[in-house]
Amino acid sequence: MNVLILGSGGREHAFALKLIESNKINQLFVAPGNAGTDKIAKNININPTNFTAVKKIVLENDIKMVVVGPEAPLVDGVHDFFLADNQLKNIPVIGPKKDGALLEGSKDFSKQFMQKHGVPTARYQSFTKDNLTDGFAFLETLEPPFVLKADGLAAGKGVLILDSLSEAKTELEEMVSNQKFGEASSTVVIEEFLKGIELSVFVLTDGINYKILPSAKDYKRIGEGDTGLNTGGMGAISPVPFADKAFLDKVEELVVKPTIAGLQKDGIDYRGFIFIGLMNDNGNPSVVEYNVRMGDPETEVVLPRIESDLFDLFEGVAHQTLDQKSFSVIDKTATTVMLVSGGYPEAYQKNKEITGFDTVDESIVFHAGTTIKDSKVVTNGGRVMAVTSLGDTIEEALAKSYRSINKIHFDKINYRKDIGFDLV
Ligand code: AMP
Ligand code: GLY
Repeated sequence: MNVLILGSGGREHAFALKLIESNKINQLFVAPGNAGTDKIAKNININPTNFTAVKKIVLENDIKMVVVGPEAPLVDGVHDFFLADNQLKNIPVIGPKKDGALLEGSKDFSKQFMQKHGVPTARYQSFTKDNLTDGFAFLETLEPPFVLKADGLAAGKGVLILDSLSEAKTELEEMVSNQKFGEASSTVVIEEFLKGIELSVFVLTDGINYKILPSAKDYKRIGEGDTGLNTGGMGAISPVPFADKAFLDKVEELVVKPTIAGLQKDGIDYRGFIFIGLMNDNGNPSVVEYNVRMGDPETEVVLPRIESDLFDLFEGVAHQTLDQKSFSVIDKTATTVMLVSGGYPEAYQKNKEITGFDTVDESIVFHAGTTIKDSKVVTNGGRVMAVTSLGDTIEEALAKSYRSINKIHFDKINYRKDIGFDLV
């Protein structure tokens, strides 16, 4: 069978490497892909949110399944587009329809959903410019720090955590009245600050049945010791040592089961991944956010630990037979360290030649922002490559990743030397 992956990051390269292990896959396509996916699949340079272009390549290449990497095509309704088209409606899309994608596309919707279905989460209220003074009053009932979230997608930048009440009021007004994050912040969720340690749990569901994938922790800040600006993610570790069986059992009972049941009660037929961002507060889970896709770089540590055939699992999602699919996880630790362009997450240069990555033999190098120019692999984004290793311990896996990184070179390479610092 021919399969298409939409996206171009490390996550999509990880999907591609895992899917080509399946003997049921004939040819794999990635749109637009990167220099890594180019080696193992056929890249097609289209924008995944251009659904007519997606349709064209699906029909031209006899594609029989589409796996959606990033959130934007899902929130824009790529799955609904397929179902509404006579030529596409029988081609499964791995990823929710618009109604399910709202769990990520609207913070207000996801908070209402959690409250309605009894999923533990921070107390909250939503405000627009029409009830700004109620927003000020609600802020006065909370203890600092204050958490303000743009309702809509804001490229990971729409959350502000502020220490002072006056700053929180000013920012709230900037968001709702002056569109600080554009249309995305015309509604703002204000919520209680959650204490604890953060981690992510990933679920694959066919709408009825589910598999809980390995947990992971990512390192979002650019600087060592978790300092400096937020990034898409500078590294990740799986499993998370502080998420023991007792905690993960609570996550399943208190979060996963009510989430899947809530989707069914609300008539949302959800087929795809749910990425649950959680706070572990003294052994009790509280949901920080839902995403409707896998994380990046979390995928680069989660998928290498899955032994089962990913395509087989996706067929289970498509045909609502996930309960009949075998699922097993490798009992090792995976670590990934992201190599980024100097300057990222602020301004950085592209087109720097990357060398040495093909000599790495004790890690997997997942390409993210890379492309091919004049037959050379060059940088093409802020996050360039994720270097993943497996080991019996976090220390062993990290040592492999850092040894491999020493072999990889490009101008102004940057990476965090302390991934996992808080766990070892
Ligand atoms: P979100 O986009 O909702 O995941 O928020 C981005 C980041 O802000 C999260 O990964 C957390 O680190 C932090 N955050 C969000 N909401 C809260 C909260 N209620 N309490 C503490 N930290 C939060
Ligand atoms: N690494 C965080 C995310 O994918 O949203």
